[in-house]
Amino acid sequence: MSQTHLGYDSRVNLGSYYTPAEIVNVAWEIIAPHVGSQTAVIDTACGYGDFLRNCGQATTIGSDIDETAIDVARENNDKVRFFQTNALCDVSRTKFGIPEQSHLIVVGNPPYNDRTSLIRHGIKKVNFDIDADIASRDLGISFLRSYNKLEADLICVLHPLSYLIKPTNFRLLKEFTANYRLIDGLLMSSGEFPESAKYTPFPIVLALYRRDVQGMAYSFIRSFRFRVAGKTDFCLDDFDYIAGYIDKYPKKKHRPRYDDSLFFWAMRDINALKRNRTFVESYSANTIVLDKQKLDYYAYVDVFKRNLHRLPFYFGNCDVLIDDNLFGQYKPFFISDAVRHHPFLKKHFQINPIAKQQVASELDMYFELLLGEHQI
Ligand SMILES: C[S@@+](CC[C@H](N)C(=O)[O-])C[C@H]1O[C@@H](n2cnc3c(N)ncnc32)[C@H](O)[C@@H]1O
Repeated sequence: MSQTHLGYDSRVNLGSYYTPAEIVNVAWEIIAPHVGSQTAVIDTACGYGDFLRNCGQATTIGSDIDETAIDVARENNDKVRFFQTNALCDVSRTKFGIPEQSHLIVVGNPPYNDRTSLIRHGIKKVNFDIDADIASRDLGISFLRSYNKLEADLICVLHPLSYLIKPTNFRLLKEFTANYRLIDGLLMSSGEFPESAKYTPFPIVLALYRRDVQGMAYSFIRSFRFRVAGKTDFCLDDFDYIAGYIDKYPKKKHRPRYDDSLFFWAMRDINALKRNRTFVESYSANTIVLDKQKLDYYAYVDVFKRNLHRLPFYFGNCDVLIDDNLFGQYKPFFISDAVRHHPFLKKHFQINPIAKQQVASELDMYFELLLGEHQI
């Protein structure tokens, strides 16, 4: 079932992209072993209540701010206690009638979107209050914080992987990460959701967190082994990244000098690299003034961009990957490829011409060695 009662703007406003049944089922496989007779299962952004279907003996509670969604949910399931309410305001167990001693499991797929960027694009109307201690520019971050306020014992929700792997996001989750530890993480692509076709797919994690006073540090996430259905696990620490070698962003002190400066578009992550250019001709607030000592590495990123089709979706929020030793061995082929696509680079490198065919097969080899089983 999908959110057929809502028009485009409301779907964007409420982040209403309902979850395909197969994914709901996977979430249930993960939490089923933890559900007991003292358990309350809640989905505070429940839509039609699809995550609350097969709860067995547990108490089940659903809430949504969307009145029509709650009406449909009520018709679908009379065993669940439904509330039409804003789940981010006056957050407490009392609000949902959950006793303090209950073992509480949160399930679902809360909305995630960047409120400020949607407002800028004139779509988003923020029409609900959010408790000050859980407010954030991204609704999904506020939802995670709200689960901490509910003191949920277990949380099994979908959210963008970027919340965990981008250090700036991870810091926004400070109180959350002080109290929860990730115990399972299954990666999937946003492309698995209907309606997502217009956007570059980004990685989503079906995450299982347990309340734990140890919490988790960012280094814990870097070494966490995420699962990917039918594929090898993904761990950030298994790779080295370009940020260790060159500036990804413009720096104030780097201004263009004379006429011979070279410019490169700022790098955010792999998904941004898909959309953006690499070498550019003129200076702007988004361009890096190259340190020519490191031109090799910028050439590397340029070649990497042309090889992004080899990477599975879950690298979308990572930096460009590199194996520096291997790059040392394959460098002439990278430079040759970069120069062929940007002839103005020629004067900056002393290299002998290499046949296009040979460059292609050597680059094939590099990427095979870099990505191993991850290569698609
Ligand atoms: C991604 S949908 C998920 C619906 C359902 N859990 C599912 O996966 O099929 C997000 C839901 O959050 C609801 N929502 C958005 N903001 C909310 C808020 N402040 N409080 C409660 N629900 C909210 C939307 O109306 C929408 O139904």
